[in-house]
Amino acid sequence: MKSPMKKIVVEGLCKQFGRAANQVQALADIDLTVRENEFVTLVGASGCGKSTLLRILGGLETIDSGSIRVDDREIEGPGVDRAMVFQNYSLYAWLTVRQNIRFSRLLKVNGRNRTQAEVETASGRADALLHSMGLAHVAEAYPNQLSGGMQQRVAIARALMGKPSILLMDEPFGALDAQTREVMHDLILHVHALEKTTLVFVTHDVEEAIYLGHRVVLMAPRPGRIDSIYDVRLSARRDPEMKLSPEFIALKREILARIRETSGMKTDLERLEQLTRQ
Ligand SMILES: Nc1ncnc2c1ncn2[C@@H]1O[C@H](COP(=O)(O)OP(=O)(O)OP(=O)(O)O)[C@@H](O)[C@H]1O
Ligand SMILES: [Mg+2]
Repeated sequence: MKSPMKKIVVEGLCKQFGRAANQVQALADIDLTVRENEFVTLVGASGCGKSTLLRILGGLETIDSGSIRVDDREIEGPGVDRAMVFQNYSLYAWLTVRQNIRFSRLLKVNGRNRTQAEVETASGRADALLHSMGLAHVAEAYPNQLSGGMQQRVAIARALMGKPSILLMDEPFGALDAQTREVMHDLILHVHALEKTTLVFVTHDVEEAIYLGHRVVLMAPRPGRIDSIYDVRLSARRDPEMKLSPEFIALKREILARIRETSGMKTDLERLEQLTRQ
């Protein structure tokens, strides 16, 4: 059997912010390969460089050394092959849901040289996404008339408009309540299967990381690095009931313990205890 294609290959990636005393080694010597159509989740203590890595993959941030190849080509800045979704939905308040979804594509098709056929293709794709994301009934509404979950659906639909082969998501469901999150999990798994995208997904929620990911990449801070990678050996057909299985709980416990160890939280607590004893 042919081995799955390497979609993203990161090698020896280093990134620093600031100078001299204020210097932060945000990422130190990151090596990571993501396969085509893989769903990789990134977890780790605050400040370990998850967002920086994602922004670099999106071409929004420069690097100091190392290389990032997508489809075996070195990336140079953002590209239509990669789309990003952030925690704050960042929709255009003055555009309707339908316009928000269509807008990005029409911009990329380039205002002046846009042909009628291109406009029609964009409309067709926008309609298809409105339906598959359960947004058809709010197509003419404005973002502020929608719940957070619905706004995030619009942001995801907008990101998918240009048929990116890679979707980069930075805590996309971080602001949503637990029930809405569960619905969004099944939605994003559906999108992943339907659109055949490769997904890199940052989250603070270890349960979310295991439920969604084929692999969970655990990063550690100071300097930002990859600490360990966990294979998630759950059935490809996810079911919320799985979260109660012994395997799921054992993996969750292992990852949480490792995050605690790498974050320095323990030592901070110990220091605090020492101080209070004095
Ligand atoms: N533009 C910037 N200028 C200076 N330092 C930065 C910048 N962006 C990030 N950093 C620093 O780089 C490190 C990694 O930040 P990053 O935002 O990638 O972490 P993170 O893992 O996403 O954290 P969180 O879980 O809190 O979102 C942090 O120490 C942060 O302060
Ligand atoms: Mg972050």
